[in-house]
Amino acid sequence: MSNKPLNIGDQFPNFEAQTNVGRIDFYDWMADSWAILFSHPADFTPVCTTELARVAQLMPEFLKRGVKPIALSCDTAESHNAWIEDIKSYAKLSSFDYPIIADNKRELAVKLNMLDKDELSAEGIPLTCRAVFVIDNKKKLRLSILYPATTGRNFDEILRVVDSLQLTQTKSVATPADWKQGGQCMVLPSVQAADVPKLFPKGIETIEVPSGKSYLRITAQPQI
Ligand code: BEZ
Repeated sequence: MSNKPLNIGDQFPNFEAQTNVGRIDFYDWMADSWAILFSHPADFTPVCTTELARVAQLMPEFLKRGVKPIALSCDTAESHNAWIEDIKSYAKLSSFDYPIIADNKRELAVKLNMLDKDELSAEGIPLTCRAVFVIDNKKKLRLSILYPATTGRNFDEILRVVDSLQLTQTKSVATPADWKQGGQCMVLPSVQAADVPKLFPKGIETIEVPSGKSYLRITAQPQI
């Protein structure tokens, strides 16, 4: 097993794993979708419960973007299924529609470098941190974030990043601070002035700055 840290742009490794809904081959499970794999320290913990509930509520938003969520927690599939009943009750969900990987032996947590040496189980074994991997439909890692166990994630932010990743992979723009779907975008520094009319028929605005350099170029969000 490799535990070399993954970098953005790396091929995300395939794996087989037990989940609460049976055994999966990760690539087969993804099929032609994007995926978000997010890990948890343990079942029946408060912050994790709020996170799994939030992702269940946001399922339509993930699916609209062609993204399949999958969680990982270091307990058994039986434990996950019992916990899911608590999550559904907590968030008043009628169903829970994405799988949770049962990594009770921590094999995947080691392989994907997700263990937090400062966060120990009751038995003194390192737990997983809150990792987020966004993997595209070519199985490439597009985003990786690590949070400590004591900080729950903001899944609206993860959706925002997915929107940016999916926009900027085909259009010659980057998304600025606090950008949201439909907001103004920045023209990529690599775009030559001569190519602007062809790439941005609706025009761009160049903000003047004391340096006199023309790098702050703003445009309306292009249609994907
Ligand atoms: C939680 O999910 O609430 C949690 C889990 C492990 C450590 C700290 C918080």
